[in-house]
Amino acid sequence: MKTIDTLRQRAPNLQPRIAVVLGSGWGTLTEHLTSAIQIPYAELAGFPQSGVAGHGGSLWLGQLGAQPVAVLSGRQHGYETGAVDGMAEPLRVLKSLGCHTLVQTNAAGSLRPYMPPQSLMLLSDHINFSQRSPLVGLGGSERFVNMVDAYDPPLRAHARRVAQKRGATLFEGVYAWAFGPQFETPAEIRMLRLLGADAVGMSTVPETILARHLGLRVLALSFITNLGAGMSAEDLSHAHTLQQAQLGSLSASDLLADIIASIDTPS
Ligand code: HPA
Repeated sequence: MKTIDTLRQRAPNLQPRIAVVLGSGWGTLTEHLTSAIQIPYAELAGFPQSGVAGHGGSLWLGQLGAQPVAVLSGRQHGYETGAVDGMAEPLRVLKSLGCHTLVQTNAAGSLRPYMPPQSLMLLSDHINFSQRSPLVGLGGSERFVNMVDAYDPPLRAHARRVAQKRGATLFEGVYAWAFGPQFETPAEIRMLRLLGADAVGMSTVPETILARHLGLRVLALSFITNLGAGMSAEDLSHAHTLQQAQLGSLSASDLLADIIASIDTPS
C-alpha cells in the first residue's frame, strides 16, 4: 500500500496542516499531543531508518491544541549515509496529506558568547556550508528554488510574539550547516563566525530546501547545547549534546507547542 493510503487509513479523521521535525532533545513535544497515534518509520515505505542514538524514528499524528499536526520524531542526517535527501519522501507525503507549513527543530552549537547553552534561537536564514543539495538530480525549473525569506518572516514574527507573551528569551540568527559527523575545529568555528553564522549544526538545511521546493512555509528553532569548538573549556560529544538538550527540553517544547498551536492557516 502507498504510504499516503496507510496514513489515511490509520488516522481517517485527521488532516494534518503542520509538519514538525523533532531534532535532538525536542522529543518531549510529543507529550503535548492529544488524540495521537504513533507509527514507527519501519512501517512507512520511504521513511528513514535512523540509527543515531537520541533520534526517535516515529511519525506521530495528533493535535496540538486545535491544530492537527504530523510530527516526524527523528530525521535522517547527511552524515549517516552521505545522502542528503533522506527526508524527501516523508515531506512529500505530509504535503500530500495537507500540510502547508514545516516547523523544524535541532540542537546546535553557538558561535556567540552572548547566546550560551540552553538558549533558543529562531533561524532567520542559513548558510549551506556543506554545499550539498537534496534537489540534485531532479528535473524541471522548480528545482531552482528561491531561498530569499526561506524562513517565513510572518511565522518568525508569530514565534517572537508567543515567546514574548510567555516571557521567554528567543534569539534570532543565521544557522550554518556543517556536514559532520565530526564536530568543527576551532579554526572552522572562527571562520563560520566571520562568514556571519550565529550557530552551527548538522541538519535542518536540507529539509528547508526540500520544503521550499514543495512550497511549504518554514519555521525553525535551534536549542543551543554548547558553545562552538574552542570557545569554552567544555569537551564536545554527542552524549554532551543529548544531556544538555534534555536539561532544557521541557521548557523548549512548552514554548514550541504554544507556537505551533496558534499558527494560522495561510489564506
Ligand atoms: N557543532 C555541530 N553540530 C552541533 C553542535 C556543534 O557544536 N552542537 C550540537 N550540534
